[in-house]
This record gives sequence, C-alpha cells and structure tokens, in this order.
Amino acid sequence: MSDEIIKEIEQLKKDKNAIILAHNYQPKEIQEIADFVGDSLELCIKASDVDDSDMIIFCGVNFMAETAAIINPDKKVLLPDNRANCQMADMISLEELKSAKKEHPDCEVVLYVNSRAETKSEADIVCTSANAGKVVSSLSSDEFIFAPDHNLGVYAGKESGKTPIIVPEDGHCYVHTMFKPEDIEKARAEHPDAKIVVHPECNDDVRQLADYVESTGGMVRLAKDPEISKLIVGTEIDLATRLARENPGKEFLPLRRDAFCLTMKIITLEKVRDALKEEKYEVVVDDEIASKARIGIQRMLDLSN
Ligand code: 13P
Ligand code: SF4
Repeated sequence: MSDEIIKEIEQLKKDKNAIILAHNYQPKEIQEIADFVGDSLELCIKASDVDDSDMIIFCGVNFMAETAAIINPDKKVLLPDNRANCQMADMISLEELKSAKKEHPDCEVVLYVNSRAETKSEADIVCTSANAGKVVSSLSSDEFIFAPDHNLGVYAGKESGKTPIIVPEDGHCYVHTMFKPEDIEKARAEHPDAKIVVHPECNDDVRQLADYVESTGGMVRLAKDPEISKLIVGTEIDLATRLARENPGKEFLPLRRDAFCLTMKIITLEKVRDALKEEKYEVVVDDEIASKARIGIQRMLDLSN
C-alpha cells in the first residue's frame, strides 16, 4: 500500500515540478520520501534556493511553511495538513511585541523563527536555534528584545554576552520543557559510556548538565563525529530516527520516550499525495506582511553566507 502511494508521490512530483522539504522531526516514512530533510535554518536556506521548482510541499509545522512562502512569493507552498501548528509560535501576539518595542525603543528585536508571519513583520532579525547566539552577537545594542521562547532567549544572551528582554515571560515548547535534571542523572547512571546532547529550547538546568547543546542540525553533525559511538538525545523523539538511519553501528537513545511533538506527526504519506494532487493546503501570507517579514529573514540568511 505505502509503495503504491510512494510511486504516486514520485509521479505527481514530476508532473507538478514540486520539491518536498521535511523537518528532522517528521516521521521516518516522510523523511524517506523528502528531497531535503533538515533543521529550521537548513530548511530556510534550502527554501531560498529552489528556483528550479514551481511548488514546495512543506512537511513540518505552519511557521516553517509560512517562512518558505515569505521567501518564495511566486511559488505555491503547500502544507499537507493545515492543522500542523507549533504551539510556541502562537505564544507571542502582535500587540505584545509592539508594546515591548514601545517600552524599549532602543532595543533591536530578535524573533525566533518559531513565530507567525505577522509578528515576524515587526522583527529586526530572525534567528533559529542553530544561530541564535551568532544573530544576537551581530546586533549593535547590548540589550535585545527576544520572542517567543524564554529558554532560547536566555541561551542566546549567554552565548553573546548581551542582555535579553524576553516576551512573553513564559513562552516555551511543551516538548523540550518536559526534560528535567533527573532525566539526565538517570541517563548518566544507566549509560555511563554515552554522551548527552540537548536542544537549546530545554530549560537552563537541563542544558547545564548535558555534554552538548545543539540544534537538531547540530545533533546530526555531532552524531557523525568518530568520537561519538553512543548518544542520548534530548529533543523530539524522531530526531533519533534520522540519526540511526544515517549512522549504522552507532547507538542513539532518546532522553525521554514521551518527547513527542503531536503536530509534527499529523503529516502522512496519504496527505502528501493528496497535497500534490489537489494542491492543498496553500500557505498564503499577505503581501505587505510578507515583504516586512522578509527583511528580518533575509538579514539572518545573509549572516549564514
Ligand atoms: P531546530 O531549529 O533544531 O530545527 O528546531 C526546531 C524546533 O521546532 C525545535 O522544537
Ligand atoms: Fe513547536 Fe516544540 Fe513542536 Fe518544535 S517541538 S514544532 S517548538 S511544539
């Protein structure tokens, strides 16, 4: 059954001249049919270099597809299930961000890419978990407004030596804030021969106890290090799926088996096929919002070159 669907997807991809981009948290079967799998930054960079395709099928959550649409105003960007949202991205409202800007008029605004297009339109620069420290270091001011992930804001402040003003106070990812110091202690006791890596969205006390703090793309690179033979991974569970697929002979264990991002898993092969066939669900960003949001995204992309 799934072989048939995969064949249909391949044919439709050719007919429609489409490219499939997938985030590292997508289920195994989606990662396998994608043309490109990556972290948020790698997907942004890839989405800025798809001149040969007419259509982008984005297997991830809505802020990622919106970002691809902002970068590619002339292409059709489709999200195979329009309920694929990121709870964190909705934790900062336009009003909250505008009032923080009013209160701190001299601060530049760094917006985590996990945010909606309209809030991005109020940002000076966007960042991802892979480049937050680098982005903040590039600012001219010593204080910066950061939204919406509290943990990443603190992390970016420490990495850059600058002071974050974080809005809202409690913006977080429900998956990454599940990890507790006890999880690290237990993993160390059970696997003394393993290294432990966690995502920057984890709480500071968890990050302090880990051996490494990396974005999902950083974890993919770390896993290839010849020094690493057993790695415990403190992020969404399907990242370990990708690591195991790409590094046969090495062992990858999730720090918690319940670290599961529900909306990343609602995309299925059937929905990817239907998205291609029926050209749904198109991600449309208002032109004025998109042109403003593009400035902060482009400023981040320029730093990546
Ligand atoms: P990455 O930037 O590592 O891809 O992470 C995205 C994300 O949503 C983390 O939960
Ligand atoms: Fe959003 Fe967290 Fe899911 Fe990442 S893991 S997409 S931050 S809810």
